[in-house]
Amino acid sequence: MDIAKTKILIVEDDPFVQDMLATILEGGGYATDKAGNGLEALEKCLTDRSIDLIVSDVNMPVMDGIQLIKEVRKRGMEVPIIMVTGVSSISVAVDALSSGAIDYVLKDEGIEETIIITVKRALAKHQLKLQNLQLVADLAKKTTEQEDTLSSLTAIISNMPDGLLVTNAQVQITLANPALGRMCGIDETKLIGQHCQDAFHGNLAPLFEMICSKTDHPVAVQIELAGGRTGSAVAAAIRKQLAFSEKRDEFLGNLVIVRDITSEKELERMKDDFLSTVSHELRTPLTSVLGFTRVIKKKLAEVVFPQLPPADAKTRRTVQQISDNLDIIVAEGERLTTLINDVLDLSKMEAGRIEWRREPAPIPEILEHAIAATTSLFERKGIAIVKNIAAGLPSVSCDRDRIIQVVINLLSNAVKFTDSGAVTVTARRRLPTDCPLEGGEDFVAVTVSDTGIGIAEKDMDKVFEKFKQVGDTLTDRPKGSGLGLPICKQIVESHGGKIWAESSLGNGSLFSFILPASQNPPESRRDNDIAETA
Ligand SMILES: Nc1ncnc2c1ncn2[C@@H]1O[C@H](COP(=O)(O)OP(=O)(O)OP(=O)(O)O)[C@@H](O)[C@H]1O
Ligand SMILES: [Mg+2]
Repeated sequence: MDIAKTKILIVEDDPFVQDMLATILEGGGYATDKAGNGLEALEKCLTDRSIDLIVSDVNMPVMDGIQLIKEVRKRGMEVPIIMVTGVSSISVAVDALSSGAIDYVLKDEGIEETIIITVKRALAKHQLKLQNLQLVADLAKKTTEQEDTLSSLTAIISNMPDGLLVTNAQVQITLANPALGRMCGIDETKLIGQHCQDAFHGNLAPLFEMICSKTDHPVAVQIELAGGRTGSAVAAAIRKQLAFSEKRDEFLGNLVIVRDITSEKELERMKDDFLSTVSHELRTPLTSVLGFTRVIKKKLAEVVFPQLPPADAKTRRTVQQISDNLDIIVAEGERLTTLINDVLDLSKMEAGRIEWRREPAPIPEILEHAIAATTSLFERKGIAIVKNIAAGLPSVSCDRDRIIQVVINLLSNAVKFTDSGAVTVTARRRLPTDCPLEGGEDFVAVTVSDTGIGIAEKDMDKVFEKFKQVGDTLTDRPKGSGLGLPICKQIVESHGGKIWAESSLGNGSLFSFILPASQNPPESRRDNDIAETA
């Protein structure tokens, strides 16, 4: 405490002793105030909050020193009080201490020195006491706050609709909430302390395998829950960050969240069923509409139109109009048939109802086939097609027709969204640097690149979604149905491959896919870098 500001109240009825004490204390650097008895001192304390310490005599008129201590404490004041007692009255000193005095000094010849020492000691002790009280109050506040946080956290965990499971590093369960118990059909309180292998078996075994996978990235699995319901479980490692250490963060255990996705799955199934039923039902009448339109067109052209008077301009115009309209009906009918076939195809693939015919097939032949099938599109737009097929490519074990379908989709997109320049088809063995599958496996990579309109960065993620056509669909008439790329994705992924796009607006696009090479020996050498112009 700053001595210059420390104010001591001297309580003494003898003016001589009062002056003597004041002189000693002021000589020690303290400010003083005086009171002639206990009552006067009490009144001063109540009005003057700047008094830091009281030095009081015992025997005084009106109110003695012991009474003063009691009155001061009764009013909740913590100001430290030193009792000045006679040499022969040790019992009075004891009385004063038990009433709440901080210390005492004997009124003898050495008081000049002892009073300064005692005052310093009392002030330091009082300061310590105040700090201690503050610490205790802070601790109590923090404890209450933590208890509040803990109880609201417990309430959140107990009431959350998702299942929550926490394990320690030894894969023993340390926390399981009621939702998890309900979903798994087990009493969650009995899970605590159990090893995951003992707790999760049968339908729930994937949970245990997932927890043990110990990857740094969150892993997700679908699990069968109690009552035939379906859950989606995601597990992530819990790590403690070691602030000043070169070592990896300490692994503490796993956190698993289980969500009941039964209704989402059901909804998805209903939507797919609906789509495939509607598409199926549409296909039959559409075949008739198209078939009869073609017949009508043929009959009109071969039988009816030749019978009309040739010189009549109005009739000629009408004949031309009917012909054009029939062409539109056929073209739109064909577009609708393609769309329906795509929807059916995709829903069958998603439902796993497609049988893939796997046999080793050479990629160059697949590419040639797809290029031949799209040549007319390139010729119509005057776009060049460049082939860049590496020699000695290994075969891929695949459903040949389906991979041709993928390349046709990519080529027809490239030509559709390119107005000038060229489309390049590249096939090579090594992995492209940005390939999403790594691990040293042998892949064949095919890339279709164009010099067309490109795709904005914000749209890059959407192009593989169903019915998504990006770009300005308000001003540009949609040039398809948005099913080509989702179909490509399904096919490529069913073959254990990956498909991805790289592009930026105005700078052309690059669509690549990779397929695992089959174990068969590489086929015979082919010419490299052949360029052709359609
Ligand atoms: N080479 C490309 N250049 C620019 N945009 C492309 C390219 N390929 C695809 N896209 C964008 O991605 C969208 C989705 O392509 P997708 O092949 O799935 O559908 P689509 O070609 O519009 O219709 P569909 O293939 O069913 O006839 C396209 O509508 C287009 O906006
Ligand atoms: Mg397409």
